[in-house]
Amino acid sequence: MRLRVRPARRLTGRAEVPGDKSISHRSALLGGLAQGVTEVHGYLEAEDCLRTIAAIEALGVDVTRKGPGEYRIAGAGLYGLGEPADVIDCGNSGTTSRLLLGVLAGQPFWTMLTGDASLRGRPMGRVAEPLRRMGATIVGRADGARLPLAVRGGRPLKAIEYTLPVASAQLKSALLLAGLYADGPLTIGEPAASRDHSERMLRRFGARVERHEHSVHIVPSELAATTLRVPGDVSSAAFLLAAALVVPDARLTIDGVGLNPTRTGLLEVLGAMGARLAVVGAETDDEPVGSIEASTSELRGTRVGGAVIPRLIDEVPALAVVAALAAGRTEIRDAAELRVKESDRIAAIARGLGAMGARVTERPDGLVIEGGARLRGARVSSGGDHRLAMALAIAGLVAQGETVVDDTACIETSFPRFADTINALTGEPSVVSEA
Ligand code: S3P
Repeated sequence: MRLRVRPARRLTGRAEVPGDKSISHRSALLGGLAQGVTEVHGYLEAEDCLRTIAAIEALGVDVTRKGPGEYRIAGAGLYGLGEPADVIDCGNSGTTSRLLLGVLAGQPFWTMLTGDASLRGRPMGRVAEPLRRMGATIVGRADGARLPLAVRGGRPLKAIEYTLPVASAQLKSALLLAGLYADGPLTIGEPAASRDHSERMLRRFGARVERHEHSVHIVPSELAATTLRVPGDVSSAAFLLAAALVVPDARLTIDGVGLNPTRTGLLEVLGAMGARLAVVGAETDDEPVGSIEASTSELRGTRVGGAVIPRLIDEVPALAVVAALAAGRTEIRDAAELRVKESDRIAAIARGLGAMGARVTERPDGLVIEGGARLRGARVSSGGDHRLAMALAIAGLVAQGETVVDDTACIETSFPRFADTINALTGEPSVVSEA
């Protein structure tokens, strides 16, 4: 699949974005581990999250789809999962594979996990290593550091104190899930705060999770089923927001967006760049939700690094597009993790935006973007990375001439109606999908 993108003259109206990917994964996993029936509303029906549903089904959890995004998960309880009959394929989904490793660390049977070529190249040793310390057996490629991996859990697992080598919510969440099977409280230190959806949702399911300044603690406990409403994904909203800031004559409201402060670093950075944006009516439930308003802005470059990085890590491709069009230089530092996402996003951004006329230099841990580019339409490729595909399409909306983004089927992993959503706002077929 490819997207053919034409410059947009305007972008106006209201939009909603599909359900939050991180929260959807967690709702399926925790629903599967709880006692009783969990109802989930607004589940993201994109490839990554459907992999998680298929995984819990393979482990014996009964899942019923009641309508679009509406799921009924009959939890097996912490001790009710069973050995899957086949290898579980996590597709492109890092979250599925890593959080599942945490669950499987507590199961007294063998499970085999694999994924697509991208996921098989991503680091799993950072998850496997502490889970082994807790008592799980994990073997596989690259000395047990790459998928496919085979896992046999221990029970009970040993409660450990562990400091994460990187601020990764996937790693933290895997350990929290394994902590449900530990013989005492587990303590996880974090170098910087990463998204805390697992902590919030575990509490919602009745677990005892405490947050201290630089660490998280979980006391092993059973989970009780609940009802969950998944907010819109702020990481998907980021692409619409970026478009609203750079397309001429734009005025956009995005409703129902998750505004968890561990996810909203982009809004702060865009504010510092001079973006005309406002957050309206953030109501705090388990997860804060509200609307974001944005309009065409005069933007200036900025420096981004340190503790904000984990709070905007998935938004860097969208931010890079905005930075390429802002006045002056933007420097993004401390973001080496971008090199081990669905693709090497530092290299992919530099290559893709560079081909469109932006001046982007790679650094080992980030990017230097000289703003003020006049982007020109080009033929570029996502490299199979959904966030690159969408970022390059947004760049195409403000480039001169036509842009073709190749390899865009991957958008299905997080934002299935991306092109339709953009076109409804521009009022014309700005982004056309071709087989
Ligand atoms: C995620 C955590 C982040 C993020 C990913 C989703 C999660 O990854 O990039 O898209 O749901 O926990 P890391 O934990 O590897 O930083």
